[in-house]
Amino acid sequence: MKILVINGPNLNMLGTREPQIYGTLSLDEISDELKDFARELDGSIKIEFFQSNHEGGIVDKIQGAKDEFDGIIINPAAYTHTSVAIADAIASVGIKTVEVHLSNIYSREEFRHHSFVAPNCLGQVAGFSKNGYKMALLGLYLAQK
Ligand code: DQA
Repeated sequence: MKILVINGPNLNMLGTREPQIYGTLSLDEISDELKDFARELDGSIKIEFFQSNHEGGIVDKIQGAKDEFDGIIINPAAYTHTSVAIADAIASVGIKTVEVHLSNIYSREEFRHHSFVAPNCLGQVAGFSKNGYKMALLGLYLAQK
């Protein structure tokens, strides 16, 4: 099983970015934990990681995933609330996708309550911090069984 993990804008700043909301781990540390979790779940799972601060770069990556990946885990960050382009890209490739947010977007500002991406996803995990990525992986893994 091949999984693509996409992180959107400002998530490269994790560790120092608003730690009271997003925690103190860097994106690399969160990604390493996910790799360990995947290995324990099933040694055959392969994960590729991609982070971009650019909407078009994320769209290109999703398009390139067609016929290459069995699942996508995406934290679109601020683009969650603005990007029809990312939502359309997910719909266009037909790959099972899970949306992840470190924070509980529904307990925050009103503008974070809407996701353009969510309707095109298998599901959404929000509010479980770094563990959200693991929960998303488990969801994709069990969905293919
Ligand atoms: C986020 C929530 C978004 O509203 C915000 O813009 C982010 C991070 C999260 O993981 O909690 O950058 O996606």
